[in-house]
Amino acid sequence: MVIKGKWNNKKYKLIKLIGSGNFGKVYKAIDSRKKVIAIKISKDLLSITNEYNAMVKLKNMPFVPKVYDFDDLEWGGEVCHFIVMDYIHGENLKEIDTKRKLNPQIIFKLGEVLINILREIDETGYKYTDIKLENIILDKRGNVYFVDFGCLVEKGKPTKEYTPPYNINSWNINFKYDYEISTLFSVTMIMVSLIGKKEFNPLICSLEQVIVKINDLPLKNREKQFLIDGLKGKFKNFNEYKNSLSSLIKGKKSYNGLSKIDYILAVSIVSFVFVIIIGIKSILS
Ligand SMILES: Nc1ncnc2c1ncn2[C@@H]1O[C@H](COP(=O)(O)OP(=O)(O)O)[C@@H](O)[C@H]1O
Ligand SMILES: [Mg+2]
Repeated sequence: MVIKGKWNNKKYKLIKLIGSGNFGKVYKAIDSRKKVIAIKISKDLLSITNEYNAMVKLKNMPFVPKVYDFDDLEWGGEVCHFIVMDYIHGENLKEIDTKRKLNPQIIFKLGEVLINILREIDETGYKYTDIKLENIILDKRGNVYFVDFGCLVEKGKPTKEYTPPYNINSWNINFKYDYEISTLFSVTMIMVSLIGKKEFNPLICSLEQVIVKINDLPLKNREKQFLIDGLKGKFKNFNEYKNSLSSLIKGKKSYNGLSKIDYILAVSIVSFVFVIIIGIKSILS
């Protein structure tokens, strides 16, 4: 199916639906120059305009897909709005989590990358509040991208878009926290979900129950303690958190660790294919 923007008149051929949320849909598509792109189509003008403005504001940051077009279209008899952006060749963390078991060392490294990204956003005076597995994409080279920038707001303003498991406000927390502590909570919860292969719903379990689960995980004691401290607001700022996380990660290197994530992911894919080949051979023999 081909869509055409109302004002800029650009045409795009939709190839495949890749995401579907409350207000919109995301498609893999190709533009008139045959370049593969992603198109987010939404009826919510406020949220998608905020998203477009946010992506333009953060356009020089390497973890933000580049945007190319923002326009309206007639869609099923209604006026919708769409953003055209780089298609990230990879998978979101939820997809990765359902297909593979990631080693905790890789998950801690990923946590460090997320902290670097969120700190960079923080320095612009804005906050990214909808931290969750589906909004973080890992590309084939091991680069991490964020999507879904409709949630970006100035730091002093109230949070508009969030997902309860990763949002400190949704848990019945009895300590004081600020924006930095709540961001550290979200990143910690991302790591806990990936290591435990389970997302926790604050409507049906308490933070104490999550901590019991962390204590049951096959981790070193200091790794468990780090995760528990992250959820309990023991780290007061990005730096304290990052120093503690770096010391958990062997080698203590920070940003270039991405290639290692990629390498280990690639190894896990190769070994998966290898297991299939061995399996097929043993069935045939
Ligand atoms: N630029 C992109 N490149 C590749 N995949 C993307 C891109 N943007 C979004 N996606 C995929 O589509 C899904 C939904 O996109 P998102 O912007 O989070 O929409 P929603 O507001 O519906 O949650 C994401 O989880 C991700 O897997
Ligand atoms: Mg999303």
